Amino acid sequence: MSSLLNCLLHKEKNLPIWFMRQAGRYLPEYKKIRKKNKDFVKFCLNVNDATTVSLQPINKFDLDAVIIFSDILLILSAVGQKVEFKENVGPILNKYNSNKFYNLTDKEFTNNLTNVYKILKKLKNKIPQEKSLIGFAGAPWTLLVYMLNKMSPKKNINFLKKTKKKEIIKIIKRLEHLVFIHCEKQIQAGADIIQLFDSWAGLIKEKDLNEFCINPNKNIVNKIKKKYPNNPVICFPKGINKNINYFIKKVKPSGISLDHDINLNKLDLTQNITFQGGLNPKFLLGSNKKMFKEAKKYLDFFKDKPYIFNLGHGILPQTNPSNVKKLVDFVRSYNL
Ligand code: CP3
Repeated sequence: MSSLLNCLLHKEKNLPIWFMRQAGRYLPEYKKIRKKNKDFVKFCLNVNDATTVSLQPINKFDLDAVIIFSDILLILSAVGQKVEFKENVGPILNKYNSNKFYNLTDKEFTNNLTNVYKILKKLKNKIPQEKSLIGFAGAPWTLLVYMLNKMSPKKNINFLKKTKKKEIIKIIKRLEHLVFIHCEKQIQAGADIIQLFDSWAGLIKEKDLNEFCINPNKNIVNKIKKKYPNNPVICFPKGINKNINYFIKKVKPSGISLDHDINLNKLDLTQNITFQGGLNPKFLLGSNKKMFKEAKKYLDFFKDKPYIFNLGHGILPQTNPSNVKKLVDFVRSYNL
């Protein structure tokens, strides 16, 4: 069994390593293929190119996992909401189509994402057994944010002012179903592990946390656990801050990915959970000495715990790949 699966399922302390956004613009070999694919959504659905790009980081750094090159917003494009990526701006979406959003059948929905599953099948056949294949999806709240705001939000949820809470809950419920179906299909296509990105969990007001974040994550985790007990889920409620312990206790995923604002000393370490990540990706931009020192904080803290080395968010585009290599070597030597 792969080291990541052992760490998540059997709580083995074997220190696997992978990175969020390990495939991406910091890699010259990614940029080369990206240039040929002007349309980002089509790029994600291009079976050959997406497979190649998914494999680039493990070929280069010998990481323990391959994460499929894809995007959380593909779910929205699959229900008829147009998604474009503008350079230096990010995603720009059209208004969602309510009829399609609510009435598309599961079959029609997954047919629009067929290539994602083809990419996973291809990757599964190409990677050695000791490496894990990670599939992923956005959590319902984070998808709702893009669906309604039609671009990355600023630091507030003013865009929600026009939407009644009842309507929000209705959308989240529908997204919960779509996310589960998409995760299930990814598992059936060969994904060993699912990561759920709730990148905008930090925007939720305390009083809405259960309905917007905890319950939808919990429902998806529970459904996957019940049907696919050997396919662990890692949750990433970014920005959840002091409510991290509450999240772990209620959602009970196999793994929890920490963002760089989580205060380690406030973490409840008594829960049966594998921790992941935490290191601020900005430390890969500065001196190696500082990068190692900051990485060591996480390694020391989780020394006696099941821990997956990763960052507190994705690798930044301006990162020098040689720093990624040095960090990997540092973590691997710590393991000895
Ligand atoms: O981690 C990996 O290597 C796998 C690929 C992956 C991408 N997006 C590819 C991508 C993953 C796991 C994602 C998840 C994703 N996408 C999230 C959740 C994680 C997070 O960052 O919080 C979110 C919020 C999105 C939506 C999204 N996609 C945004 C906001 C942007 C623009 C910002 C940016 O980084 O450019 C994207 C584009 C995107 N997704 C790129 C990549 C490699 C860059 C596109 C390019 O090449 O121009």
